[in-house]
Amino acid sequence: MAYSDNHRYKIDRETIERILDSAKIEEVVGDFVTLKRRGVNLIGLCPFHNEKTPSFTVSPAKNLCKCFGCGKGGNPVHFIMEHEQLSYYEALRWLAKKYHIEIKEREMTDEEKREESIRESLFVINQYALQHFIDTLHESEEGQAIGLNYFRHRGLRDETIKKFCLGYSFERRDSFAKKAVAAGYNPELIAKTGVCYSTDDGRLQDRFWGRVIFPVHTISGKIVAFGGRILQNNAKAAKYVNSPESEIYHKSDHLYGLYFSKQAIIQKDHCILVEGYLDVISMHQSGIQNVVASSGTSLTTGQIKLIHRFTKNITLLYDGDKAGIKASIRGIDMLLEEGMNINVVLLPEGEDPDSYAQTHSTEEVEQYIERNKVDFIRFKTNLLLDEVGEDPIRRAGLVSDVVKSIAVVPNEILRSEYIKKCGEMLNITEQILVKEVAKLRKQKAEEIQKKPSQAAANTDEENGTDTDGTPAINEFQQSIISSYGNPLHNKERAIIEFLLKNGSKMLQVPENKITNTPAFTETVASHLYYSFKDDGIELSHPLYKRIFDEAGEHANIAGFDPESHFMAHPDVEISKLTAELCGERHLLSKTFTEQAGDERNEQAVMFEQTTRLAIAYKLSIVDDMLKSTMNRLKDPATISNPAALQEAMEDFKFLKETQGALNDVLKSHGFGNVAMNV
Ligand code: CTP
Ligand code: MN
Repeated sequence: MAYSDNHRYKIDRETIERILDSAKIEEVVGDFVTLKRRGVNLIGLCPFHNEKTPSFTVSPAKNLCKCFGCGKGGNPVHFIMEHEQLSYYEALRWLAKKYHIEIKEREMTDEEKREESIRESLFVINQYALQHFIDTLHESEEGQAIGLNYFRHRGLRDETIKKFCLGYSFERRDSFAKKAVAAGYNPELIAKTGVCYSTDDGRLQDRFWGRVIFPVHTISGKIVAFGGRILQNNAKAAKYVNSPESEIYHKSDHLYGLYFSKQAIIQKDHCILVEGYLDVISMHQSGIQNVVASSGTSLTTGQIKLIHRFTKNITLLYDGDKAGIKASIRGIDMLLEEGMNINVVLLPEGEDPDSYAQTHSTEEVEQYIERNKVDFIRFKTNLLLDEVGEDPIRRAGLVSDVVKSIAVVPNEILRSEYIKKCGEMLNITEQILVKEVAKLRKQKAEEIQKKPSQAAANTDEENGTDTDGTPAINEFQQSIISSYGNPLHNKERAIIEFLLKNGSKMLQVPENKITNTPAFTETVASHLYYSFKDDGIELSHPLYKRIFDEAGEHANIAGFDPESHFMAHPDVEISKLTAELCGERHLLSKTFTEQAGDERNEQAVMFEQTTRLAIAYKLSIVDDMLKSTMNRLKDPATISNPAALQEAMEDFKFLKETQGALNDVLKSHGFGNVAMNV
């Protein structure tokens, strides 16, 4: 029922639960981290950041882990996702293999099966093409004489050529097409990969004929695309021909070289971004392996997210030509919003990373980067300063541009550093910049608070959504929300935390003499859910709402335990939040019910806590509505319109009554004041 309408889940819930039941957090973490016992927990050095004293805590009892230094952790699946940089389903498969659990795939729809098998076929054909190009390069006379020779002339060693799976495509226009068809591959699918294309008269032709080949790997090493470079610099033909977009290749979601550099990026906690295929390859060859390329286009959000999985620190390494840089820094504010720490390094005139790496030692390249790196905001300010000169109007425009960039930086300390530096560069007092930045952040905070769902929906468009359409909130928005607080969301979070931890417990609703209802018991989840539903209240935060509603649907199913239900949820966002909310207190201390040391029976305590939580939330909604009604009452447009004034006054009266009634409920149970520390 809950998932029948949902076709995106590929591994069924039962299997996920079985994996979580079998995977012991101390064993999974123990494969990568040396753990020592410390009381009921185990501790070790965090594998996600550099530390000298261990703060990575593993709780076998809760089957969770968490680093109290960097905050990373979760259940065994989350740990493997982070450590091996796998998707949720990849991580589940990884664990299934370790614990010899057979994965039962959920039945796919016919449409899914068809798409899946097309996608798989495209990968198979790409793999076949790759092997063909590699063989051609190394084994054919033409490949050796032309292709291999070209790569060697470009300074590549044979081991480098092999490592990057470089290849060669014959001069003939259909040699791969003929071979693949003869080998039994479907011509339509061959064309779908983009390795070949169909001519108007229906012949299958090679796209990359007469070019050397650079295959593009996914993070996990599958081939999604190829780039082919022409051999002579020839003004008539494009220097590079690339695979077109296909069912498996969305250019903006891939970075060239990431497959080969991800380990080094994690180790160094730093990613160097260059422009071209050969830049990546030559840097690797010279010993610098944390390098990827955007392949000639400016960075996209998909690519940023990809890098963000591995590190927050990016250095853009460009040749000294300024026109190129201007085009590529557009859109970089977006990187800052994601909390990325960005530096820019320009190479000496006439050099690109390829040429520089080929003529300098590893140390020299590293030193050059270290000595010449400029943080992005300073870099941008400088670039713009050059441009505007002394023109006061253009200068003012420049200031507001720079302020905009600074305002989106989530980290407060970094923000004030930028303000200081830019104040000096622009010759403006810090105070003015501080004020401007604060103003922008406040504006944005108000936007987000006013329409949480819509603000999220907007970012959605720019940033894409995660697989299930949950609007992605970026780090900037999160920093805004936490620095200005979204009281409603904070309360909702507390409700979800309470629901996860206590939802399956029973509470006792006392007898009500006025309505003549006898005392009865029900689950906390059910009580909370219906208490909101009866008042027509829905949670405003999309993720919290999904959890709350799903808990409501399951609340009356015997044995429903929200914590394990949501921990094994097929939606990774939900499972992560569950681990986060259930983990922290458990690892640090007991739950607050246990802390309270309450003598009353647990069902009464649960009723009180649930009621307080629900009423505190309802009161805060009423409070917001009262505020806006007050504004309406003060508004001249309302005052001058008798009907509108009447309506506003009635609303006000109703809200006041509701507020009173909610407080009365608390009083009638003897719960006193509503002050809740949520
Ligand atoms: N590029 C492309 N199509 C082009 C030109 C460039 O796809 N017509 C992409 C390639 O990924 C290329 C990158 O943009 O690697 C950078 O372009 P450029 O600097 O011109 O090429 P280099 O990588 O320097 O290649 P080479 O050194 O072989 O000239
Ligand atoms: Mn080059």
